[in-house]
Amino acid sequence: NIIALILAGGTGTRLWPLSRKNTPKQLLALTGNRTLIQETCRRLWTVVTPDKQWIITSKELYDSVKHHIRLLREEFHQDKSEEEYITVMQEPIGKNTAPAIFWAAQRCRHIYGEDSILLVMPSDHLIVGENEFIDTLKAGIEKAKEGFLVTYGIKPSHPETGYGYIKIENNKIKSKTPYKVLNFVEKPNYERAQKYIEEGNYLWNSGMFAFHVGTLIKEGLNLCPNISKPFNESDPFNSSQINNSYMKAEANSIDYAVMEKTDKALVIPASFGWNDVGTWKSFFDISDKDENGNVITGNHINIDTKNSFVYGQERLIATVGIEDMTVIDTPDALMICPLDQTQRVKEIVEKLKIEN
Ligand code: GDD
Ligand code: MG
Repeated sequence: NIIALILAGGTGTRLWPLSRKNTPKQLLALTGNRTLIQETCRRLWTVVTPDKQWIITSKELYDSVKHHIRLLREEFHQDKSEEEYITVMQEPIGKNTAPAIFWAAQRCRHIYGEDSILLVMPSDHLIVGENEFIDTLKAGIEKAKEGFLVTYGIKPSHPETGYGYIKIENNKIKSKTPYKVLNFVEKPNYERAQKYIEEGNYLWNSGMFAFHVGTLIKEGLNLCPNISKPFNESDPFNSSQINNSYMKAEANSIDYAVMEKTDKALVIPASFGWNDVGTWKSFFDISDKDENGNVITGNHINIDTKNSFVYGQERLIATVGIEDMTVIDTPDALMICPLDQTQRVKEIVEKLKIEN
């Protein structure tokens, strides 16, 4: 039995002003008509049917997530009732990804037993090459069935500090082949990330995992009992017991709590195109450019503008003589920033939080 757990409780601050508290990245339609969370569910259907997909999100986002799932059902599965469709789990409080995953793991164990597989997926990534994606997933599921904690790795292209780095023995990396994880370093500093890229035998952690439920729970009790034990000791279907577990559980990500410490990890290098659209720059990089190297959405007048990202919704935007810039306009906020500094957009959100 394979269950997909789609993580959708994150607040995503770096695509401001498009992403907001109530519409984080996973609820945006960045490419095409469907939102990233809808695309995440749809893409998984050939491996995990909708009745075995569980989304886990916050109180604040619950209603919107339900709405997006209703639209998906109306588009593709009018024959299915809400009860036989994608489940949306609501967390009493956001404590990062580890508590969410341990709660789901207990539900999995109760319904399907220790040998079931929990396929953990972020809800806010872009994937290109869906057949390759499915094949890669399946290769990982096979190893998870043997009792491993499988992560899916991405060939790194630059010393990004926002990702986890996975060390493997070999530097001739073959996709869809399992490698033992020699070392896992979550979000290293820039110098270290640079060193890893030079050494060549590192992969980025995609944040997608295939966990053998029994192994995950056992490793949780060994490596991070502060998080896993409260869930081990309560009924995963009893909401007051779950509230209690959340109060007790330490807030942490699965990467720090388990993946950095376990010796049961394998990595499957991915063969598909992957982008976590973490910043406006990464969104720009994967978009098609016009003859001046620009990416433009909305009504725009261009005088000598080059290599820039202009995104508008209602108003007319006019730019003259700018280069390597980001201009993002929404009805109530405008953001302008050089393309190479879009990492810093999160500072705006921090500032807004303090002032409000
Ligand atoms: N339910 C729930 N509750 N979901 C959450 C919570 C929470 O408290 N916090 C984050 N999420 C969701 C986010 O919505 C996202 O889909 C996913 O979990 C991952 O969280 P991020 O906050 O986006 O993690 P990250 O990007 O900093 O790092 C992770 O992903 C990288 C690749 O994009 C790590 O796994 C890194 O190792 C990895 O390289
Ligand atoms: Mg992320």
